[in-house]
Amino acid sequence: MRPCCPEVAAKHTRERLVNLRALLSELLADYQEFTLEIGCGNGHFLSAYAQAHPDKYCIGIDLLGGRLERANKKRKRLEISNLHFIKADAEEFLESLPEHVRIAETFILFPDPWPKRRHHKHRLIQEKFLEDIAHKSLAESHLYFRSDYTPYVEWVANHIETCKEWTLIESPWPFEQSTLFQERAESHKSLISKRLNPEKHQDKHTLSNQANA
Ligand SMILES: C[S@@+](CC[C@H](N)C(=O)[O-])C[C@H]1O[C@@H](n2cnc3c(N)ncnc32)[C@H](O)[C@@H]1O
Repeated sequence: MRPCCPEVAAKHTRERLVNLRALLSELLADYQEFTLEIGCGNGHFLSAYAQAHPDKYCIGIDLLGGRLERANKKRKRLEISNLHFIKADAEEFLESLPEHVRIAETFILFPDPWPKRRHHKHRLIQEKFLEDIAHKSLAESHLYFRSDYTPYVEWVANHIETCKEWTLIESPWPFEQSTLFQERAESHKSLISKRLNPEKHQDKHTLSNQANA
């Protein structure tokens, strides 16, 4: 692709956001909440999850058109009506969500690890991302993270530790369905975080006191 000037790039971003907002307003018009998978790849996990939970409305997003095509073929073949796959960047997706709707739970499975230090800034999980997704999530919503790259798991645990919106919890993994990258991995680790409830003025300190009482 030819590089384009900043004005053209900004115009493309604006157009993308307008289109994404229109699509999400239409898809989510009848829903108050939904399940989100970020970086859904070929859609193995979310297709199985949506089939097993017909009462939940599920949206999977990814940046890569080829993977989304395969995910959508699967969705159509299996006739899963409570599921949509959308080509979108995670931050742009969050920014484009209609005001009335909240994320009930988020899955992030085998995200790109960006192992080199100078590339850490490209990792999906960052301080701002954790805050942005919390503000679009239901109180006490869950964030499910899984990776085969231990330094990224540690990175996420450290970011959750210092983030006032989420806390790590011990809880069983809610649903097992291997993804393409899970199949390729020798082993993996999972982290489950819960959003601290702002209405109950929950913070990590009050929660650990409640747990110890
Ligand atoms: C390593 S693959 C894992 C795919 C799938 N979860 C699996 O386990 O097979 C990571 C996926 O995240 C997608 N991705 C990376 N950054 C993203 C972003 N900012 N927003 C949405 N998807 C993203 C990539 O396009 C890629 O398909």
